[in-house]
Amino acid sequence: MEYLVLEKRLKRLKEVLQKRQKDLIVFADNVKNEHNFSAIVRTCDAVGVLYLYYYHSEGKKAKISEGVTQGSHKWLFIEKVDNPAQKLKELKSKGFQIVATWLSEDSIDFREVDYTKPTVIVVGNELQGVSQWVLKIADKKIVIPMYGMAQSLNVSVATGIILYEAQKQREKKRLYDKPSLSEEEIQRILKKWAYDDIIKDRKRTVVSR
Ligand SMILES: C[S@@+](CC[C@H](N)C(=O)[O-])C[C@H]1O[C@@H](n2cnc3c(N)ncnc32)[C@H](O)[C@@H]1O
Repeated sequence: MEYLVLEKRLKRLKEVLQKRQKDLIVFADNVKNEHNFSAIVRTCDAVGVLYLYYYHSEGKKAKISEGVTQGSHKWLFIEKVDNPAQKLKELKSKGFQIVATWLSEDSIDFREVDYTKPTVIVVGNELQGVSQWVLKIADKKIVIPMYGMAQSLNVSVATGIILYEAQKQREKKRLYDKPSLSEEEIQRILKKWAYDDIIKDRKRTVVSR
């Protein structure tokens, strides 16, 4: 019975990995609020983002609210970046377009971007938005049109709206039908996930019994 459960779990993890979009990255530039960050994590998981990078101006590690992520933080790589300009430049040199959210009249409608290309979406701090250095590196500045009284959306909501546009475009191009990860990459990550999920969690249960 236990083996059946494990087998089912492994199958599920593999299915998730087969849908992960390794060339759709989110970069959270100084998003400070724990709930906002956690909500971004959960949406990244739902859309199939594998890498979520973040920069914190005080160098702090991002806090995750498990009540918000509902465990989804375990299924993507969340990495702190200390030199964000260097990281974005590095991704750019690997062929990623850098798309920065920016609430300004010279930004383009977020739906005009082709998210089926390798893309990094940069979202910004709750008060200041994205940093100036991001804007300098960015290939495109995007805005979600707003017709109400508020001047901006909550950062996790904005991330969700953009990511679902990316998902829509990628579904249309059938990018979820074929894994973006190689079989070798899938097996490597699966090993790690299975260890963290099954072995580590089981050890924890046994110890706390
Ligand atoms: C509360 S907003 C920051 C507001 C800040 N005063 C500014 O002008 O950028 C926090 C983040 O949410 C995202 N955001 C909020 N509303 C947005 C919109 N209408 N279009 C694009 N991104 C938006 C952006 O990533 C932004 O950096």
